[in-house]
Amino acid sequence: MMMSGLLKKNVGRAVFRRGLASEVAPAAPKMKTFKIYRWSPDKPAEKPKLQEFQVDLNNCGPMILDALLKIKDEQDATLTLRRSCREGICGSCAMNIGGRNTLACLCKIDPDTSKQTKIYPLPHMYIVKDLVPDLTQFYQQYKSVQPYLQRKSVPEDGKENLQSIADRKKLDGLYECILCACCSTACPSYWWNQEQYLGPAVLMQAYRWLVDSRDQASTMRKEMLQNSMSLYRCHTIMNCTRTCPKGLNPGKAIAEIKKALATD
Ligand code: SF4
Ligand code: SF4
Ligand code: FES
Repeated sequence: MMMSGLLKKNVGRAVFRRGLASEVAPAAPKMKTFKIYRWSPDKPAEKPKLQEFQVDLNNCGPMILDALLKIKDEQDATLTLRRSCREGICGSCAMNIGGRNTLACLCKIDPDTSKQTKIYPLPHMYIVKDLVPDLTQFYQQYKSVQPYLQRKSVPEDGKENLQSIADRKKLDGLYECILCACCSTACPSYWWNQEQYLGPAVLMQAYRWLVDSRDQASTMRKEMLQNSMSLYRCHTIMNCTRTCPKGLNPGKAIAEIKKALATD
């Protein structure tokens, strides 16, 4: 008897909820147009093009990455992009959105549906497919600055290379770089001298090791940059700092390297 009483109560609630739901009018669609760069190596004769997609913002997450994944899931599974963390940590979803290099997962969709949003891969790079740039050279350049601790002597206790709080502070604003390449691919000097100029992202990491009090390879690190191309192609245009989605300042790091080399 008790069970049937409970059941009756729940059935009553369910009916009430259904009644409420049927009274709520569905939201009018909020269709937003995205124009997305498409190119496939499988069709090399076809020129790159911008393809238009419509997304109802009522059924989409707030970020550009949400819209891209929705398009890929529901409209065109061949749309190709990189992403992993969806929270600005891995750096893989870097692309040019509305004219600015940034991370798709940190970039909010402009809710104004009268405006289209254009999405391109990072500029001035070879393209693997659609929104995926070839970053092989970028990573080779990163490797070339030997981005790891180098020491001739072992620490006194044989275990840890200690650092003062003040010295550790010098790494703030440098170590947070996620190597997304937004800054390097926004730099005109990098566009025109990509083979030899290291670009802001890699130079900032060169500086990160140069100022690390635990590292003992600073002479070699400075010598590697002492030529006309690797560092001195930077003309302080500051596009790099303006575009960094992590709010870092690679332009300042480059200026600090120049200062360190000049006062040597
Ligand atoms: S400051 Fe230097 S690295 Fe940054 S965009 Fe300008 S030229 Fe490129
Ligand atoms: S400095 Fe900023 S824009 Fe450049 S690679 Fe690092 S996180 Fe990306
Ligand atoms: S998905 Fe990792 S930074 Fe955007």
